[in-house]
Amino acid sequence: MKKIGILTSGGDAPGMNAAIRSVVRCASCADIDSYGIECGYSGMLDGNIFRIDNRFVSDTIQKGGTILKTARCPEFKEKEYRQKAYENLLAFGIEGLVVIGGDGSFRGMLEFYKDCGLPCVGIPGTIDNDIGYTDFTLGFDTAVNTVLGAVNNVRDTMTAHNRACIIEVMGRKCGDIAVYAGVAGGAEIILIPEIPFKIEDVVKTIKYDRIKGKQSVIIMLAEGVCSCSELKEQLLEKIDGIQIRTVKLGYIQRGGTPSMSDRIFASRCGARAVELLSSDKCGCRVIGTKNNEIIDLNAEEALAIPNEFDKELYRIATMLSK
Ligand code: ADP
Ligand code: F6P
Repeated sequence: MKKIGILTSGGDAPGMNAAIRSVVRCASCADIDSYGIECGYSGMLDGNIFRIDNRFVSDTIQKGGTILKTARCPEFKEKEYRQKAYENLLAFGIEGLVVIGGDGSFRGMLEFYKDCGLPCVGIPGTIDNDIGYTDFTLGFDTAVNTVLGAVNNVRDTMTAHNRACIIEVMGRKCGDIAVYAGVAGGAEIILIPEIPFKIEDVVKTIKYDRIKGKQSVIIMLAEGVCSCSELKEQLLEKIDGIQIRTVKLGYIQRGGTPSMSDRIFASRCGARAVELLSSDKCGCRVIGTKNNEIIDLNAEEALAIPNEFDKELYRIATMLSK
């Protein structure tokens, strides 16, 4: 392998730059030239491909977002467009591809591999932590820490006014950001798509918290359940005497400097990606982490693994919020 392409796709995640940097520098150590592909699969379709070297990735490990830009590219779901993308890679002599993105990006990568057989490796980059085969995805740790900073601030002012606050966090259909930030931030209530809830129970908990002497209530709401304004409306129909405020954290939780964990994870994933592409039997593989070890799996098998919700952590959360 002499030339590899690297792209970031889907929602950006803190640590993507650290992963790009690791791939480029580990590739350079293996005498492999790196090519950046701008804006995910769109850049592959448009031939937006350029040589990147060790200096291109200088001063990037601490930066959020992605220096290669990212995009969603619906055309890539169609075979004829993927063929065009393949021809563009061939024109640059690219023999292997690193895709840094989420579940959707990996499905695109797998389809692409099935079409053309170009060796591909996926690094899981999404704040959502919604990929079943890996314990964690790149960006999740940073996003949760960002949410925690917000929870601390919100808590101060809610306590000062004896209020309740609904904090809406991202995650698509996955409740992990809400559960981890809820446990670590001491939320009284955590609402996630994986666990259906009754509005009456939420009301009961808020009222009971007041009786127990709690001076503020933090309701951590995953966006996959409903919006914070919808939940507030539902609560106000059944509760009075308690002021409820809402905060939608939005893109604040997707940007920002990556945490130590995400930088190390990214660095290790990049090294593994180059190792895999350098071997003769790479095929299409995805990298992840299990029990603190870096793992790699056949992409098709890995993507068939359902994303399991951490029931035990949720159970602990319900005890800690008393
Ligand atoms: P993420 O990678 O963060 O899950 P998306 O689900 O939006 O983000 O997917 C990112 C991109 O991956 C899509 O815009 C599309 O280009 C590509 N993609 C997703 N699913 C497929 C698929 N089934 N076949 C081909 N490409 C896909
Ligand atoms: O997948 C990452 C994510 O930030 C989700 O948590 C969120 O639902 C979505 O992307 C937002 O996407 P967009 O950038 O299209 O608004």
